[in-house]
Amino acid sequence: MTASQAKPARLMTGRVSARRAGPLHGAAAAPGDKSISHRSLILGALSPGETRISGLLEADDVLRTAAAMRGLGAGVERDGPHGQAVWRVSGAPWQSPEKALYLGNSGTGVRLIMGAVAGARIAATFEGDISLRGRPMGRVLEPLRMMGAEATDRDGRLPVRLEANGGLKAVKVKLATPSAQVKSAILLAALGAEGVTRVHEPELCRDHTERMLEAFGVALSMEPEGAGGRYIEIAGGQTLKSCDVVVPGDPSSAAFPIAAALIIPNSDVTIKGVLVNPLRAGLYETLREMGADISFENTRVENGEPVADIRARHSVLRGVEVPASRAPSMIDEYPILAVLASHAHGETMMTGLEELRVKESDRIACVEAGLAANGGDVASGPDWLRVRGQGKPLNGGAMVKTHHDHRIAMSFLVAGLASGKPVEIDDASMIATSFPDFFDLMAALGADIVAG
Ligand code: S3P
Repeated sequence: MTASQAKPARLMTGRVSARRAGPLHGAAAAPGDKSISHRSLILGALSPGETRISGLLEADDVLRTAAAMRGLGAGVERDGPHGQAVWRVSGAPWQSPEKALYLGNSGTGVRLIMGAVAGARIAATFEGDISLRGRPMGRVLEPLRMMGAEATDRDGRLPVRLEANGGLKAVKVKLATPSAQVKSAILLAALGAEGVTRVHEPELCRDHTERMLEAFGVALSMEPEGAGGRYIEIAGGQTLKSCDVVVPGDPSSAAFPIAAALIIPNSDVTIKGVLVNPLRAGLYETLREMGADISFENTRVENGEPVADIRARHSVLRGVEVPASRAPSMIDEYPILAVLASHAHGETMMTGLEELRVKESDRIACVEAGLAANGGDVASGPDWLRVRGQGKPLNGGAMVKTHHDHRIAMSFLVAGLASGKPVEIDDASMIATSFPDFFDLMAALGADIVAG
């Protein structure tokens, strides 16, 4: 069976609950990678000529970036049915938009576009939803100010007014947090700066911007530094060349059906076409250490990115220590890992998690509250999470507050598919920000997720 999405997704909003049903079986295509989707629209809009994107993730976060590109002057059009759409982006010199750019829930959208707006030497105002308004923007605004942009913010948060019409100069910066969003914002700003910008990345984080800039004809030089870091240099004034982009499947979204298969007895699921770039695959490494029956099949390179079909079967899991150094390669996967860890035999200790406090929600607090309410044994500190697995499913039976966070919502729905009593979430609407086909895909594999 292939759960192909030929029609618009069934979206669920409000309260939704997941309950134990039979095994999950079958194959499904992973939705397009969110990080690569944002980048393809932004780089397309910066490139003269037409960029054709297939496999773009048609989720709220990415659609906000598409709308922002239109607001900045690019042509953005879509052809074809759901699941087979091709997006055509016609780049044009960016203009300062009259209206604020509203990026909804999307940290990636807002931070990357701030960098690109600075690089385009224009001015724009940025806004977001209640979750995005609470997230730190100073980490991007500081380097952009060093480069000469002027920014007015609300205590380091949205709304932000950014003005870069006065010109921009290259800088040498060391990333204070291993954030691909910050790194990408600086690289995009550097395109419009005078001179060579040098970014020092002490710990490697996802490199899709670097890979895609190169595909768009931009010269970058990268040099290893210290134990596991690197320098990236980029000269300003380079012109991008439009190209075709094929977006691979998102490993962060694929994690949900894969996790469900691991904890539901007799399940056997394959998620096809998943990006397995090592800087994104930390969860899969951890799952293997936990004893998960997972295999990468049909591994190939597509558009410069490694891709595989991931097969997962129900497994007896054991607790592990997840090193802090692995956090950048699985930063969005800790909520679902914590759910899996509660099914494992023994303790799972996760460290180096300070960034989880400033995601769409405080993910350490949300995971702790949700697991504890459903019978999990969990403790946390400022930058760590410890789950004592009981070698059996959670009791379930409690409602989980999602705090506008799609990954909290999907993690606890997966928990409910194996737990004694159903698990309910207070609001499913945010799932549409990253994985609008979640409900269809899970239902096609055999999951029982219902409204209310
Ligand atoms: C992303 C980077 C990560 C990740 C986010 C997507 C990106 O954020 O959590 O979901 O596309 O660059 P940080 O860069 O803040 O770690």
